[in-house]
Amino acid sequence: MSDVKLLSTPVPPGGTIGILGGGQLGRMLAMAAARLGLKVHIYSDVADAPAFQVCDIHTVAPYEDDAALKKFTATCDAVTYEFENVPSKAASVLATIKPTNPNAKALAVAQDRFDEKSFVTSLGLKTAPFVAVNSPEDAVAAFAKIGGPAVLKTRRLGYDGKGQAKVKSADECKAAFASFKSVPSILEGFVAFGFEASIVAVRGADGQFAAYDPAENIHENHILARSIVPARLTAKQVDDTKTIAKKIAGALDYVGVLGVELFVQKDGTLLVNEIAPRVHNSGHWTIEACIVSQFENHIRAIAGWPLGSTERHSDAMMENLIGEQAADFKALAAKGGGLHLYGKSEIRAGRKMGHITYLKPRSN
Ligand SMILES: Nc1ncnc2c1ncn2[C@@H]1O[C@H](COP(=O)(O)OP(=O)(O)O)[C@@H](O)[C@H]1O
Ligand SMILES: [Mg+2]
Repeated sequence: MSDVKLLSTPVPPGGTIGILGGGQLGRMLAMAAARLGLKVHIYSDVADAPAFQVCDIHTVAPYEDDAALKKFTATCDAVTYEFENVPSKAASVLATIKPTNPNAKALAVAQDRFDEKSFVTSLGLKTAPFVAVNSPEDAVAAFAKIGGPAVLKTRRLGYDGKGQAKVKSADECKAAFASFKSVPSILEGFVAFGFEASIVAVRGADGQFAAYDPAENIHENHILARSIVPARLTAKQVDDTKTIAKKIAGALDYVGVLGVELFVQKDGTLLVNEIAPRVHNSGHWTIEACIVSQFENHIRAIAGWPLGSTERHSDAMMENLIGEQAADFKALAAKGGGLHLYGKSEIRAGRKMGHITYLKPRSN
């Protein structure tokens, strides 16, 4: 990809940031860009995308529509994404016209769970044990190698626990593979972790790196329910989470914010679970508790600006509002936290409708 466009000078206030994807992440990115005097053009394949409500220009078109992508890109000074499953063809169309970050390598690595874990281990970082599964025979052999319990996951397109099955025998593993319609998959050893954590970090166009404090994450029904900062980690572990993010970002020549999901084992070992090449749900607390949020820092990075401070001035707890949890806006508004509602057209079970962040004076 030698023909990708690089940013030669920072995008000045008044310039336009293009964002592929119009969900809540795109919406919060657009609001952060507005704070810096930047304009935003959102591209989404759905007509009522929440981010359309807060941007200057929007385009509704499929991600496979090269002509629409080119027209969109022509109006932008720099382009980014709010989701990792951007078709690689769309990404390469954008990147040859305008500076586009995160880069193609970061997208490719994050889109495939086998490539992702192989990349992470190649950096000397730890993950759960994993094996590729491409056939029913592989499913049986993989279970024999990994042992049970284990988790079979599709290599691509899984999110919020979709495309995953916990298996306790070779037969269950084979059946789960068949239930995934035999798409390329990966079998992972089930980690009896103490808790889950994540690190959200940012790398600038010049290689400058900064990380937020890691969050402790509680999932319910495979969806993030709460993030708490500070996490129950030692100072050494906190440093280690930042080193992990720095290694990954450096090796990908990454520009923008990335999230790294971690399992903290009972003996304190940190295992990398997933890389998100974008702003991350477990970083929403940074809007209230840090001088510069993950959203603003992502915009700064992809626009070629100096990064902002990631310093945390408060302890924070972020609660996701899923489905009906967002219904009573008056009760939520009275709760004393920072309330965010994403402007989605209808409440659906399991849908992320908003979040609330509660602050306390910083304890450490
Ligand atoms: N190998 C594993 N061992 C134990 N729990 C797991 C494992 N893989 C996933 N999980 C659980 O399932 C959740 C979702 O899995 P993840 O790989 O992060 O996929 P996604 O977030 O894309 O759905 C994790 O946050 C964790 O709670
Ligand atoms: Mg995950």
